[in-house]
Amino acid sequence: MSVAGRQKRITVPQIRAMKAEAPIVCLTAYTSLTAVLLDDNVDLLLVGDSLGMVLYGMDSTLGVTLDMMIAHGKAVMRGSKKACVIVDLPFGSYQESREQAFRNAAQVMKEVGCAGVKLEGGTEMAETVRFLTERGIPVLGHVGLLPQSVNTAGGFRSLGRGEKEAAEIVADAHAIADAGAFATVIEGTVEPVAREITAQIAIPTIGIGASPACDGQILVTEDLVGLFSDFKPKFVRRYAELGEGIAAAGKAYAADVRARKFPGLEHCFGVKASAKAE
Ligand code: KIV
Repeated sequence: MSVAGRQKRITVPQIRAMKAEAPIVCLTAYTSLTAVLLDDNVDLLLVGDSLGMVLYGMDSTLGVTLDMMIAHGKAVMRGSKKACVIVDLPFGSYQESREQAFRNAAQVMKEVGCAGVKLEGGTEMAETVRFLTERGIPVLGHVGLLPQSVNTAGGFRSLGRGEKEAAEIVADAHAIADAGAFATVIEGTVEPVAREITAQIAIPTIGIGASPACDGQILVTEDLVGLFSDFKPKFVRRYAELGEGIAAAGKAYAADVRARKFPGLEHCFGVKASAKAE
């Protein structure tokens, strides 16, 4: 294909430059089909490790492996042409050392062909973020509620209510911004703190359960379309109820098969047109 014929993807510097210019629209995607459907309307597709819970029925994201992220990352790259695709580094693939983080992030970048990786953590991960970014790996940070730390946190709850907790999250955001992250997710953090961080740091903030003041927003697509309906977090707005549609379709199909109403002859091969009409 000629260079002119190739559609250009949104780049990491373009995402970074959107701070205070235009809201950055982000959604998660785990499959090629979802990527095809969302690509036209988003700036960034995140192959989030939330796929462990949403697609694989795990209780947390801790069981997600690098191989899973690479397989789903490749699928999303195949389905999208325009969006900037970022892939989550899963639990255990980057926390041990900055060298381990580089090795695994580089493998993701090479095999998936994505624009960068996301990792969770603030001050404690700043050295790793610097190590990666100085070696050509764009990093999307993730501060506030950290799903990969669910066991040390004792569960999922919004953060930043007390002065100390708020100050820690602000410091975390500064630390990864100073270390070279091109943007950061702020998850499950009280609104005034997310607003304050957005005003203070030079890189875009992408909110989820954070603040309308964030430079961008992200949701898990299955939450947005009503496919993951075990519970609806406060920060989700449902734009469709696809789960109900799928369940209803399955029920109608089951009834038709049991009543021998499906398939009809029109769905069969080698049937004469006259027989189909009978
Ligand atoms: O894993 C994920 O999908 C995420 C987003 C919710 C930000 O980290």
